[in-house]
Amino acid sequence: MKELYVIATSNPGKVREFANLLDSNFYETKSLSDIDFHEKIEETGSSFEENAAIKANAICNFLEKKGIVATVIADDSGLEVEALNGAPGIYSARYAGDQASDQENYELLLSRLKGNLDREARFVCVLCIQKTKEAPRFFEGECKGDIIETPKGSEGFGYDPVFIPKGYDRTFAEMTLAEKKALSHRGQAIKKMIEALKLSPN
Ligand code: IMP
Repeated sequence: MKELYVIATSNPGKVREFANLLDSNFYETKSLSDIDFHEKIEETGSSFEENAAIKANAICNFLEKKGIVATVIADDSGLEVEALNGAPGIYSARYAGDQASDQENYELLLSRLKGNLDREARFVCVLCIQKTKEAPRFFEGECKGDIIETPKGSEGFGYDPVFIPKGYDRTFAEMTLAEKKALSHRGQAIKKMIEALKLSPN
C-alpha cells in the first residue's frame, strides 16, 4: 500500500510542488481539502519553526482522531530584511495588515527602505515533517538577495517582484517557475528533506 503524505496547506500550487517531488509509485499525496480539514490554524509561534510545527501538529491531531495514519508536511516561510532588523519575517503575509494584498505588502516594504542603501535580505523556509505519534523533524532553506527600488516582473507571488537573488540580475518575478525553484528557499528546504528522508524524486 502507498504511504500517505498530507501537505498542510490549502494552496494548490504548494501541494503540486510537493506531489511532484514525491514518487507517486510509493507515495500518495493529499491536501487539506482532500482530508476535509477546513479550520483556520492560528500561526501564534514566534519563529518559522514554531509556526511550521503548530500547523503540522494540528493536522496530526486531526488525523489521529480520524484514525488515519499519515505523514504531515507543513511549511512556513517569509522574507527577512537586514536594515529592518529581520522584518517582515514571520509577519510577511500580513505585513501591511491582515487582509493586505501582496502588492500592499511589498509597497510598504519599499517605503520603509526608501533612501536606505543597505538592501540585503533573505527568504527563509522551514519544513516540519511529522508522522502521527512521532517527533517532528525540521528542514530549513534560505535564499539570499537584495531588495530593489522599483518592482519588476509578473511571475510568482508575494515579494517576488522586489527580490533579486545574489548573483542574478532579474527578480524572482522575472524568472520561470523552474528557475525560481532551483534557487529558492522552498526548493532548498525540500531538497534537504528529500535527501535526509531518502524520498526519491520523480
Ligand atoms: P507562508 O509560508 O505561506 O505562510 O508565506 C508567508 C509569506 O511570505 C507569503 O505570503 C509571502 O508574502 C512571503 N513569501 C514566502 N515565500 C515567498 C516566495 O517564494 N516569494 C515571495 N514571497 C514569499
